[in-house]
Amino acid sequence: MAHFPKPAEGSWTEHFKLGTEPISYADSISPEHYELERDAIFRRTWLNVGRVEQLPKIGSYFTKELDAARTSVVVVRDKEGAVRAFHNICRHRGNKLVWNDYPGEETSGVCRQFTCKYHGWRYGLDGGLTFVQQESEFFDLDKADYGLAAVRAEVWEGFIFVNLDPGDTTPLEEYMGGLGAGLAGYPFEKMTQVFKYRADVGSNWKLFIDAFTEFYHAPVLHQKQAVSEESRKLAKVGFEALAYDIEGPHGMVSSWGGMAPPKDPSMVKPIERALRSGLFGPWDRPVDVDLPAGLNPARHPAWGVDSFLFFPNFMLLVWAPNWYLTYHYWPTSYNTHIFECGLYFVPPKNARERLAQELAAVTFKEYALQDGNTLEATQTMLEAGAVKEFPLCDQEILLRHLHKVCKDYLDDHAGRTPGTPLRATAVS
Ligand code: FES
Repeated sequence: MAHFPKPAEGSWTEHFKLGTEPISYADSISPEHYELERDAIFRRTWLNVGRVEQLPKIGSYFTKELDAARTSVVVVRDKEGAVRAFHNICRHRGNKLVWNDYPGEETSGVCRQFTCKYHGWRYGLDGGLTFVQQESEFFDLDKADYGLAAVRAEVWEGFIFVNLDPGDTTPLEEYMGGLGAGLAGYPFEKMTQVFKYRADVGSNWKLFIDAFTEFYHAPVLHQKQAVSEESRKLAKVGFEALAYDIEGPHGMVSSWGGMAPPKDPSMVKPIERALRSGLFGPWDRPVDVDLPAGLNPARHPAWGVDSFLFFPNFMLLVWAPNWYLTYHYWPTSYNTHIFECGLYFVPPKNARERLAQELAAVTFKEYALQDGNTLEATQTMLEAGAVKEFPLCDQEILLRHLHKVCKDYLDDHAGRTPGTPLRATAVS
């Protein structure tokens, strides 16, 4: 029996017309399929690579390794203050332009120009080639022809995105669609106290997104860490979301949460009581926020967090106590990826607020480890191939949608009619 209202069709899955049949995970266990995803998805969509706070002044830059898209990019604030991005390659003989000790490691800093380590060619912040070592030795070389290869970069609500598809003219704002528009005006720019985690994960990138786009697992997987009577009861009842929304390739789930300080002090851990904080963030709200229309769409008084998946690999979780989380899943092969997480708070005003944020960050890590712990186990058994179809419940609608959108992108890239079988996914 539903505890929160569902659409008239009886389920969110039927409301969004996603079908109710079991799904295949053939798209997560095949090297050939992954190669298709690299070109059809990661080289054709807007990818979030960072925040504007990472580029505080003219000449600030950072690099981003985009293995799935077969490139590395350098993102920089130019002399006019605009954010630009370039393929991280020197135009002379192809050396990676910006790196420090190891070419595969990301780096950041501030500079007036970029100088290639190999033969010393230099490029301005606008990407223009400004200096060629022994220029007179070259043949009819016009520096204007050898600027850095530009990558489209746009900013949405302070989040920097790049798009590697030269033929895609869709503006970022349009790509983010109604779910993105519904977040406009949220004070992301005030939340500049950042805690970051990064992990190499032995699973397909979609499996971890699957784990974080449903809370169906939460009362079971995390029950050992739950100390409250409320949480123990939850393990028996299960989870239901307040609302789901899907628009284009993106989706969101709106959830209740025990964000307010519990009335019964025995229901929280002593450190949580002392620091007034826990998994759901600090209990005290640092800023008052008029929630934009896209947050807590059900306007439910028990609202706790909204979790957005902006296709393909950017998740944004906005919490009721006014802080937010980001997740990124960067594939490195069909069965490995790099998981990145950021927790963003309003800077603390005193030591207790700082400790409250630290507690939220370390508590989050414990839960994330529990989530990540299942992934390699799932990946290896999916690859075993003994079982090929898996039933999904209504609370798993967003992962049903994700796998469908991935297939649609592959179909579109191959010029197929959506719904036709994929050659490379025919895993036996
Ligand atoms: Fe960069 Fe030669 S490869 S200057």
